[in-house]
Amino acid sequence: MAYPDTRLRRMRRDAFSRRLMRETTLSTDDLVLPVFIHGRPGREPVASMPGVDRLGIDDLLRVAETACELRLPALALFPVTAQEAKSADAAAAWDDDGLCQRAVRALKQGFPDLGVITDVALDPYTSHGQDGLVDDGGYVVNDATVEALVQQALSHARAGADVVAPSDMMDGRIGAIRLALEEAGFVHTRILAYAAKYASSFYGPFRDAVGSAQALGKGDKASYQMDPANRDEALREVELDLAEGADMVMVKPGLPYLDIVRQVKDAFGAPTFIYQVSGEYAMLKAAAANGWLDERACALESLLSFKRAGADAVLTYFALDAARWLRETG
Ligand code: PBG
Repeated sequence: MAYPDTRLRRMRRDAFSRRLMRETTLSTDDLVLPVFIHGRPGREPVASMPGVDRLGIDDLLRVAETACELRLPALALFPVTAQEAKSADAAAAWDDDGLCQRAVRALKQGFPDLGVITDVALDPYTSHGQDGLVDDGGYVVNDATVEALVQQALSHARAGADVVAPSDMMDGRIGAIRLALEEAGFVHTRILAYAAKYASSFYGPFRDAVGSAQALGKGDKASYQMDPANRDEALREVELDLAEGADMVMVKPGLPYLDIVRQVKDAFGAPTFIYQVSGEYAMLKAAAANGWLDERACALESLLSFKRAGADAVLTYFALDAARWLRETG
């Protein structure tokens, strides 16, 4: 009778030895909550994202209080712009009295220790729903868009944002924003670059939430967001963003792109974030609502997988729930 030389199951037999050899842990310290804000009072549910609401500033402050109690490090803000404030030049994006800027000031005043991350991209503000300015042919022009993004980032920094997060995928925007922040004296404002952001179909519910889906219509973002087929290109994007002054880099979406996170982390060793996007959240919620999946177990397993793949932090709509679940299980 031949016995196995190695019995890997020995260490799996009991909880104590499973705990001792566990390689990856998920903690509340790893989670960032994305929040949708709107200019009206009260909460408004997002139909395709059960459990997620658009928040007025009062409700945002209540969520911030809960986030602090649960010890989440940071929130990421996503404003919903009223139709009449949208324009071809997206000028509302750098209005110092705009919704995003007011929300940042209110958060920093009420909860100075909670990190505030703002999204730098024009899509909530353009009448056509693209992340940048378009020419007569509908092409998103790079350099003029970068100038607009610099104005937007400076306006966020003036409002007190701790981290600006360009999610637009224009070339050269990290360098331009870094330079402008330095020149204006915002030497502590961090940049989280959406470095490898793919032209993904998993953003659908987000575009419903911020109302850019309607504006975008049949348009797509393939001329600036990355082709899901590409991996080498992601490394080039990350390399450029780090060289231009990004403090953190992001891969987005999450679960379908774990290979990219691993490679980015191995190649650069920089703080690496991943975004579990709206479509990933919606899938889990829908399956759980049907009783087909265990929401808590599957959400926590997905979040742990991001850590195992090399991510240092995760933007996730599950952040509040996950923080509660982690507190319960210790
Ligand atoms: C826009 C932006 C998008 C998301 C974050 N910032 C959508 C897009 O690029 O169309 C998606 C996030 C999500 O799906 O949860 N710049």
